[in-house]
Amino acid sequence: VTISHGNSRVTAALPTGESVEVLLFGATVLSWKDGAGDEKLWLSEDSKLDGSKGVRGGIPIVFPAFGPPDPNHAATSKLPQHGFARTARWEFLGKSTSEGSSSSVKLDFGLSSDNLDEATRALWPYKFGLLYSVTLERDSLDTTLVITNDGDEPFEIQTLLHTYFRVKDISSVHVTGLEDSPYSDKVDGMKAKTQASSPVTFSGEMDRVYTPAKGPRHPVVISDGGKPSFRIVRDNLDQVVVWNPWTDKAESMSDFMPKDGYKNMVCVEAGSVQGWQKLDKGDAFEGAQTISLS
Ligand code: BG6
Repeated sequence: VTISHGNSRVTAALPTGESVEVLLFGATVLSWKDGAGDEKLWLSEDSKLDGSKGVRGGIPIVFPAFGPPDPNHAATSKLPQHGFARTARWEFLGKSTSEGSSSSVKLDFGLSSDNLDEATRALWPYKFGLLYSVTLERDSLDTTLVITNDGDEPFEIQTLLHTYFRVKDISSVHVTGLEDSPYSDKVDGMKAKTQASSPVTFSGEMDRVYTPAKGPRHPVVISDGGKPSFRIVRDNLDQVVVWNPWTDKAESMSDFMPKDGYKNMVCVEAGSVQGWQKLDKGDAFEGAQTISLS
């Protein structure tokens, strides 16, 4: 296993060629390649990689609040959309590897209230710790986030792993595992709806927050051109956001490039974003996703 740790990124590669690259801003996974060198994640060419904005692609981490600030949730109402974890500079805590025929590598990253600048801490003044582990195996990538309340005050959080999957053609993408599940439709005034007993397909802007009826361990599968490409299993993350900006929204995002890149991406985001998870002093919340290549 080869590891390189630069000033702003950590990369790791298995002897069989699979690799992962993580930006310290946001502990954002920027790239995940299979053994043939094929990229599995979508990354906008105009992404900001300096912490001035969340990365437009890869796997940004949403914490401690999902979406635009909620005026009815006073504690997070001053935060920017999707919180601050995706722009803060994380620490690389180290690696663990297993060598041999089934080699793997785990990279650990940390962020705590002590790492935040004062302005950010003022927006959400709680003492917390985040431990994020990115584990690369030959045919899978696992991302696990552990959130701890290190202070005396209780706090409430939402979190989400905002994965941008690379696909060949969005028009022939099918997402299964969400059949008969309730969702909130963000492109239709947050209306509560229920998915039909059929896969999710794409023919325009989509922004939906699903609570899959079969629970987090039932796989959500992304098929591309009739062939299953990604299988996502969640741990403790009850929601799945499905997002594609399509033409107009892609046009309106300054960091989205190329503009027709929406054809080659789909966001299927594992999270806990309906209501709030309350953490009392000393409590921990752990959420994870494992993405397997089919
Ligand atoms: C998704 C949201 O998770 O993220 C969308 O459901 C949002 O509403 C998208 O547009 C991208 O958000 P941002 O802040 O990275 O532009």
